[in-house]
Amino acid sequence: MKNNPLPRLDREGDLRERLLPHCRLKYGEVWNDPEGRHRVACIDATNYDQVTNLVGARKPELAIQDPPYNLVAFDEQPLSNYIRWCHRWVQLTIDCLAGNSAFYVWLGADQDNDFQPLPDFMLMMRQMGMKSRSFITMRNQRGYGTQHNWMAVRQELLYYVKGSPTFTVQYTEIPKILRGYYKHVNGQMTENIERSRSENIRPGNVWVDIQQVFYRMEENVSGCYAQKPLKAIDRIVLASSSPGDTVLDFFAHSGTTLLSCERHQRRCLTADIDPIYCEITIRRLERFRITGKTGWQNQNPFDIETAADEREPLLF
Ligand SMILES: C[S@@+](CC[C@H](N)C(=O)[O-])C[C@H]1O[C@@H](n2cnc3c(N)ncnc32)[C@H](O)[C@@H]1O
Repeated sequence: MKNNPLPRLDREGDLRERLLPHCRLKYGEVWNDPEGRHRVACIDATNYDQVTNLVGARKPELAIQDPPYNLVAFDEQPLSNYIRWCHRWVQLTIDCLAGNSAFYVWLGADQDNDFQPLPDFMLMMRQMGMKSRSFITMRNQRGYGTQHNWMAVRQELLYYVKGSPTFTVQYTEIPKILRGYYKHVNGQMTENIERSRSENIRPGNVWVDIQQVFYRMEENVSGCYAQKPLKAIDRIVLASSSPGDTVLDFFAHSGTTLLSCERHQRRCLTADIDPIYCEITIRRLERFRITGKTGWQNQNPFDIETAADEREPLLF
């Protein structure tokens, strides 16, 4: 297969200039799915008018937010500014959500810098009127660290609720092998495998069974620097929403939440401030509908445009 990767598209000024004319959305605009299901907006997650225009009258039952973490992936800014910025989009998320709804937030914790912004974000959330439900850790395969410290391989995921939303227990593909946890049921001594509803174990709040996205995976979207694995988003969507529900995601990037919603008959309202990531999100959905493929593997979403470009080939 042709190997045609793109660099991080938020950083490459020249390449951005070449790709922007091919993006359907300009800042402030909304794309309506011709099949009438989803919406993608090129907006700022902290802008009240833009967010309310995206959401409209039907309140989402689930929000999955994956903001920039104030770490390497984003222009670093003072922590207090970052938390003030988070307060604005969190408040808008809460205002948009249905009375019974779930709210998930992916966040980083910089071990070389007082674990910011995770603890500060958690303290801020205490003032927001949501109820905390779980603090999930997903294990990455790659990480950062040195020979003098534990390698950082965790991704934090916070789960809050408003009212009493739906929750469906999920299972991993890891079979139960350990017998034990004996308990009396109707006068009989039973062990855990007899009592359970699945042959497999539950993920619990430490997810060790999900492969981080890398270029050899079909779902890989080259040009994206912070793509979440589809399996992780599927797990959230299946646990915390029902078919026909609406899911909100202000930070689309590669469009993983949108794709998961399409695959599981949910409606997705998603946004990104960057027109290039909005275009990638729309193209990922369109490609899935035509080919059933979840990403571009080691090709890229702008293959046609970059191949048609008469100038020097893209070498990085
Ligand atoms: C960590 S990535 C999200 C990754 C996504 N969950 C995925 O699986 O591809 C964060 C995204 O937020 C976008 N972003 C940054 N500031 C924003 C803002 N104020 N409003 C909307 N989107 C923003 C960035 O352009 C980036 O694409």
